[in-house]
Amino acid sequence: MTSTDTTFWSGKTFDDFLFRPQKGITETRRDLSLRSVLTGSLSLELPIVSSNMDSVTGAEMTQAMATEGGIGVIHRAMSIERQARKVAQIKRSQSAVIKQPLCLPLGATIRQARKFAAQHAITGILIETEPGSNILAGLLSRRDMPWNRTHDEQPVERFMTPFERLVVDAPGISTEQASEVLFEHRIERLPLVDAERRIHGLITRRDIFSLRERPYSSKDDKGRLLVGAAIGARGDYLERSAALLEAGADCLFIDIAHGHSTVMEIAVNEFRGRFGNVPLVCGNVATAAGARFMRAIGADAVKVGVGPGRGCRTRLETAAGVPQLQAIREAWQALEDSIPIMADGGINTDKDIFLALVCGATTVMLGSALSGTDEAPGRVIEDPVTHTKKKIYRGMTSPEAVLESHYDPDNAEALDAALDTPPEGQELQVPYKGSVKDILHRIRGHLRSSVSYAGEATLQAARDKILKHPQHYLIPLSPAAYRESYER
Ligand code: XMP
Repeated sequence: MTSTDTTFWSGKTFDDFLFRPQKGITETRRDLSLRSVLTGSLSLELPIVSSNMDSVTGAEMTQAMATEGGIGVIHRAMSIERQARKVAQIKRSQSAVIKQPLCLPLGATIRQARKFAAQHAITGILIETEPGSNILAGLLSRRDMPWNRTHDEQPVERFMTPFERLVVDAPGISTEQASEVLFEHRIERLPLVDAERRIHGLITRRDIFSLRERPYSSKDDKGRLLVGAAIGARGDYLERSAALLEAGADCLFIDIAHGHSTVMEIAVNEFRGRFGNVPLVCGNVATAAGARFMRAIGADAVKVGVGPGRGCRTRLETAAGVPQLQAIREAWQALEDSIPIMADGGINTDKDIFLALVCGATTVMLGSALSGTDEAPGRVIEDPVTHTKKKIYRGMTSPEAVLESHYDPDNAEALDAALDTPPEGQELQVPYKGSVKDILHRIRGHLRSSVSYAGEATLQAARDKILKHPQHYLIPLSPAAYRESYER
């Protein structure tokens, strides 16, 4: 950084700037592309990532994020098996063909089928002739499931639609042909089998509709939604990684509060030794040296942000941190575009996202902005006095989050050890906000407007323009200009 740069960025964050509007070149903002890079091999049509926090990203949030063109990172405050199951649930949830549909054998009971459907969040179960045979015997859909619990010990065979009455098709069928068959027979599911009745896949009406309506969804090369998952840097992280990758995770996140550390270096080394080039986002850092360190140890993308988050107390308790826009800029000046930068934390309004992107980030991670939604884990709480609806949002090192994730009646020492570190996070109640899809729709619209004010037709072009010479475009605000701009 030159000394002029240092003066320009020092101590600055999102609310310290406006950008100078440029001559608009598009007639409509609706089609402006917001495509951006997540890692070297993955890109997103909406450069938004939902944070790996237990009050933000579980399976529902991850599915909504990828459906809308972003990506969710499933938090790790749960057992390896549970986290892997959530990854697998997303990978199965929306693809033209579900390659390995879940099956139960003929001998299974209705009780087992109910549990299985709930566990994997599915509404139709293929029934195979015997465990592992992969030979189709029938289909048990939600409609076949008896309402009356007295049938719980009965075998599924009694209620399923048997193979002889099922509409099935051959494995090579195209999505268009499959949708015609589904419509012609007014059915929800089409199992794909060969001449020996061996199961090769399943096509569902819901997935076909969803694919058509949202061409911008984030998908892998098999048409399945993209999923990220957090692994941490100590303890079971290698075992966790293996299970998450096996379940189909597209991108793993090693993020710890102080990423510029030996712990991170060891973790990434071990990870690379075992899993090779799997996309790996590492964080968090807040300095040029930290960003260079992440590139040197083999991160595919570096996550930037120490202490800007709404649930964070790091800066208050330790005085460590760098104002977020300054941190993003320093990281970009150190790395340029050699590896992507993910800005993490401190986003209060949609304009902050645009500033993060044109000052150096290629994606932006959001926690509180996506919290309080239907898709965020946790219940809606109604205030008994005001009747306003709220949900909980909490830092991952808040006492409440630590307590919940480490509680084990058989291992009190583990909980004591976890609680021994003073918290650097806090719990808040946030207003209930309805579906996250509405929030993402709003963000998409505002980002497109920002691109248009920047005089470009794509986010990429706006970023290229402002990134190289931000001083030409950004206006530092006086206290009066700040009041005029942001106080309402
Ligand atoms: P926002 O502002 O979007 O920030 O809510 C989300 C980010 O906050 C970080 N995070 C924490 N930081 N103590 C911290 O210092 C915590 O307990 C904590 N929990 C989450 C994290 O980077 C997240 O993406």
